[in-house]
Amino acid sequence: MTNSRRKEWATSGIDLFLDFSRAAGPRLRARIENGFREAIRTGRLRRGTQLPPTRALAQDLGVSRGTLLEVYAQLAAEGWIAGRRGSSTVVAFDADPPRGATPIRAPSLVRWRFDLRPGRPDPSSFPRMEWLRALRRALASAPNEAFGYGSPQGQVSLRIELAGYLSRARGLHAVPDDLLITTGFTQGLGLVARSLAARGIRRTAMEEPSMHLHRSIVRAAGHELVLIPVDSDGMRVEQLEHGDGVGMVVLTPNRQHPTGATLSAPRRSRLLAWARATGTLIVEDDYDGEFRYDRRPIGPLQGLDPGVVVYGGTASKTLAPGVRIGWLVLPESIRQDGILQKELADWHNSTLEQLAFAEMLRTGAYDRHIRRMRLRYRRRRDTVILALTTNHPTLVVKGTEAGLNLLIPAPDASAEAAAIAAASAAGIGLDGLILGGYYESPGPAGLLVGYGATPQHAFRASVEALILALSDVVSDWPLLAKQT
Ligand SMILES: Cc1ncc(COP(=O)(O)O)c(C=O)c1O
Repeated sequence: MTNSRRKEWATSGIDLFLDFSRAAGPRLRARIENGFREAIRTGRLRRGTQLPPTRALAQDLGVSRGTLLEVYAQLAAEGWIAGRRGSSTVVAFDADPPRGATPIRAPSLVRWRFDLRPGRPDPSSFPRMEWLRALRRALASAPNEAFGYGSPQGQVSLRIELAGYLSRARGLHAVPDDLLITTGFTQGLGLVARSLAARGIRRTAMEEPSMHLHRSIVRAAGHELVLIPVDSDGMRVEQLEHGDGVGMVVLTPNRQHPTGATLSAPRRSRLLAWARATGTLIVEDDYDGEFRYDRRPIGPLQGLDPGVVVYGGTASKTLAPGVRIGWLVLPESIRQDGILQKELADWHNSTLEQLAFAEMLRTGAYDRHIRRMRLRYRRRRDTVILALTTNHPTLVVKGTEAGLNLLIPAPDASAEAAAIAAASAAGIGLDGLILGGYYESPGPAGLLVGYGATPQHAFRASVEALILALSDVVSDWPLLAKQT
């Protein structure tokens, strides 16, 4: 390769792609200078990027170190780069964003003084030490193959531990082969929807209200949606019997999201009988089934009929959403399709994290963490309910038996918006049934108050701030009938 065509990786210390082939200039030194100017001007080398030491770069490019010293001196004199005494040379120039490029915006992460949005666990309670211990053990004992590509279905050791846990703690019928490891329920839902769409099944019933994102995922997989209303006994499953051609039903039977209703026993039986008779697949979203406080845990639908139910679980509430680990328990009829869709999506989850999670399950650290958090969330729930009902006795509080949030029905959309605005002005993040996009057709308004996300030390203060913030807006809310 001649110098004029040279594209090199400067590999000594810092990997840097330098393309001098297109840089203009008769002499090598000029071409190298122009190559740097071009890379900095176009923003490919950003301010602060460390440049390789001249000695190493000279070796990589096959030029004398003297030439490179001259190049760096010239670029420094022009203000492109700067040498730091006793340290490396860095890019010192901020490029304009390339024309037509969309400026990169930081995600709009509103930092609330108190985060009372629904469905979020306390990030400050993440079991860092247990996770670290599990990760360290996993790293120490993982064979070299663990660093290569793995099975789309997920690590066998994790599937063994998880199948044991789900059978023992959640009442599922699951063996390791039934499990598919995902990055969360969000991914799992898309995998099932795409598996069915590939077979020509493209009509799905979902709850209303339900998560906007979930509806979008199913629609994006090519499905038409039939939205089924929800009442205090969960999804009105009798309405499915008129929903011709529905091939999939997605629901949150353990704790309807966002109303908190539990699917009643008669409706469970009716739903399963109908699914068996029509060959419809049920997708059960058990997003926070571990957090049930007053009554005995409710067994999942999957435990009643594993042949027609896809069970979706997640570590997003028990550990943290950022961990991105979830699982599907798939009936035989759809298992291979689900695994194929996972492979098409991203091949597989991070192996090391799967092994660490398996380790937490194996040692009982996961169970212990859940037990600790269940107690903590139950106390928090009691505190919020007491504070709300004592200070604002006209409010109705619903959906309190389980989960990480409760629902306060609001008289109408403007009352909901006013309460959320008042909370927001006090630095409190809340969600609303209308504002949160849970309904597509006109539906009742309500506040969703999450008691999971606040760090433990700030919890009482967050409740006091909420009570104060709501004082002016909820005092005239009429006592609402206990329906949503
Ligand atoms: C109803 C419902 N299902 C599932 C999830 C979990 O999704 P993931 O496992 O992708 O984090 C959430 C998270 O907020 C949820 O609200």
